[in-house]
Amino acid sequence: MSKRVLLGAALSASQCEGAYLEDGKGLSICDTVPSKNRDFNKLYGAPTHDFHYPTHTAVDFYHQYLDDIKYMKDCGIDCLRFSIAWSRIFSTDNMNQPNKKGIDFYTKVIDALIESGIEPIVTISHLEVPYYLVSEYGGWENKEMIQHYIAYSKYLINHFKGKVKYWITFNEINMAMHFPGVLGVRIDTSTNIEKTKLQSVHNILVANARTIKYAKEVDPNCQIGAMIAYSPIYPYTCDPEDIYKAMSVERETLFISDVLVRGKYPSYLLPKIKELNIDINEDESNDLHNVVDFLALSYYSSNAISVKEADEQSSGNLFGGIKNPYVSATEWGWQIDPKGFRYSLNVLYDRYQLPLMIVENGIGAIDKLENEQVNDDYRIKFLSEHIEQMNYAIADGVDILAYTMWSFLDQVSASSGQMSKRYGLVYCDVDDEGKGTFKRYPKKSFYWYQNYLKNRK
Ligand code: BG6
Repeated sequence: MSKRVLLGAALSASQCEGAYLEDGKGLSICDTVPSKNRDFNKLYGAPTHDFHYPTHTAVDFYHQYLDDIKYMKDCGIDCLRFSIAWSRIFSTDNMNQPNKKGIDFYTKVIDALIESGIEPIVTISHLEVPYYLVSEYGGWENKEMIQHYIAYSKYLINHFKGKVKYWITFNEINMAMHFPGVLGVRIDTSTNIEKTKLQSVHNILVANARTIKYAKEVDPNCQIGAMIAYSPIYPYTCDPEDIYKAMSVERETLFISDVLVRGKYPSYLLPKIKELNIDINEDESNDLHNVVDFLALSYYSSNAISVKEADEQSSGNLFGGIKNPYVSATEWGWQIDPKGFRYSLNVLYDRYQLPLMIVENGIGAIDKLENEQVNDDYRIKFLSEHIEQMNYAIADGVDILAYTMWSFLDQVSASSGQMSKRYGLVYCDVDDEGKGTFKRYPKKSFYWYQNYLKNRK
């Protein structure tokens, strides 16, 4: 292997920071979603005392970041992929008034990472759209959102020029097609949900492309990408109907990466754009030609799909499918498929011939803290098998820039709101009600990763 892949870990602002209204931060949509009976397609009102909202305290990274970065240094990670909370920077819809305390916090985080020899990989928007943009503007279906996002991304790019080399404009854009609410795509007031979703994705893609254009002008040395959640869709049988269905479902993700990488909509999407009368003007089409330097992706599981009904279903971060008898699954029914990881990396690299950055890969599990230790052998198995398959993919010729496992710390689960669905290398003592000491305990997987990083060739 000639080129060294950056190996690290990931976090996301709303899932780890807490301090949800501290130092001038505004409300974000995820701050309004309670821990129980979560419905991402509904716009909740402002938080009330009747519910627990897991992002309000999360795992307190906002106050403990310096100690957490010490753990990162001790672990030996090359890079940290994390996100900036948009609502901490622009807490009101005044695009000329960034929150100084918000930017100061991220400056301190980035400086501490750099001093610790850890490369920051920064996601600009990760499931954390300011609440006012959804309640007042209706979210991403409204083109006003593009301007707001660009004011925000430009501000970050200017501010961190020379410090941040790797940017990711958006987390998992294809989530808009499956869990639109988490991305700030409002469907509860929509009269045509398919149109709302596709128009919103288009507006996000325009915001992405214009940010890339700007970043390249201001800081030609930066590398900027955008992200999809990737889960290969296997046809459940060799019935041609199943094969075709699998291809069609996969295209619901690939049309987005096609635009990100190729700068235009693929031919298979054009009939849908016409049918739904999606508003795409000439300037926007031209701007889409500003393409990513790398494609970022998450990989948690594979899915199997059929045109026929099945007895047993599987789950996943995007959607579920039919339970695949050849692979195991997590306690939440996400199918564990390391070989599918090698397969996915090959599929995406064959399609795009562009470096890939794997920015999430991990297992959500119920961990037990006993005598201040967590023996998470299942996590070690998951990570070691996936890293092994990634190494095979590299030997297959796939160009990989970085791999950041999910996640460095335990964090609030994005889908379930649980703390008990843990992904971290470091246990955080917080429960599903937000109670606990908030103390950190490196798990067995932390020491396994530390050893792997130290001894890699
Ligand atoms: C990804 C998201 O889809 O899946 C993360 O980008 C999320 O934010 C991760 O945490 C795991 O999903 P969950 O719902 O188990 O937290």
